[in-house]
Amino acid sequence: MTCTLETRDLTIRFGGHVAVNSVSCTFRPGELTAIVGPNGAGKTTYFNLISGQLRPTNGSILFDGGDITQLSAPLRTRAGLGRAFQLTNLFPNLSVEENVRLAVQSASGVHYDMLRPWMMRKDLIARADAILDKVALGSRRSVAATALSHGDQRKLEVALMMALEPKVFMFDEPTAGMSIDEVPVVLNLIGQLKRDASKIILLVEHKMDVVRSLADRIIVLHNGQLVADGKPAEVIASPIVQEAYLGIAPGKSAA
Ligand SMILES: Nc1ncnc2c1ncn2[C@@H]1O[C@H](COP(=O)(O)OP(=O)(O)OP(=O)(O)O)[C@@H](O)[C@H]1O
Ligand SMILES: [Mg+2]
Repeated sequence: MTCTLETRDLTIRFGGHVAVNSVSCTFRPGELTAIVGPNGAGKTTYFNLISGQLRPTNGSILFDGGDITQLSAPLRTRAGLGRAFQLTNLFPNLSVEENVRLAVQSASGVHYDMLRPWMMRKDLIARADAILDKVALGSRRSVAATALSHGDQRKLEVALMMALEPKVFMFDEPTAGMSIDEVPVVLNLIGQLKRDASKIILLVEHKMDVVRSLADRIIVLHNGQLVADGKPAEVIASPIVQEAYLGIAPGKSAA
């Protein structure tokens, strides 16, 4: 059975405000879906519902053949849902390298063992090194996580998610606040992840050029509702996106 991720009628209310409103959508392996929509549309809230940071008021989430709606966030991570870590949840005073090694170790299920100390686990160290190279943090390996620049912190978040080898990668504005020269590293990484046809990738992104270059599919959220879903060219050209998202009157073309 292929591993799919599906939300059914997924809904959450905050008081009188319906932030995510009956969103039904299925995500398949080998597909990078961009989730776009105006500020406040419910994109991050939708991610929080999928990763388990929030519980829905209504609806369900199905993953890999099971209903995960009631699973805690850590159990969802273990099941294969990868959400970029917040560095505050990690080991801010440990080095970049130590953080990545710990994530690799945790993913491998190897726990600290006096007889087989960490330094002997050459395979795990090699895997951590490979990930550090991929995210271009090799030269920053000895720096404490908190001392990294904003862009490097985002790269470390991606590294930690990669270390867990999830089935689903979730990126919420991965390049936000990055300097121009840092952006391509992260975009190339996401592009590389796409080559693995067994992965589901969800990307919340405002920059339309990024969406165009990476997405296989775009879904549009507006006022918590799913208002468009399809191939990038079709969705970008649709009147709802032209008007509601890009703020362009029908008949005129998007930039
Ligand atoms: N914990 C919360 N309590 C109350 N309201 C919330 C909460 N989280 C989100 N909201 C509201 O839900 C709506 C959707 O917010 P969300 O952060 O999901 O939007 P978004 O699409 O990610 O926007 P942006 O593009 O600015 O990141 C907003 O109106 C927001 O104020
Ligand atoms: Mg958001």
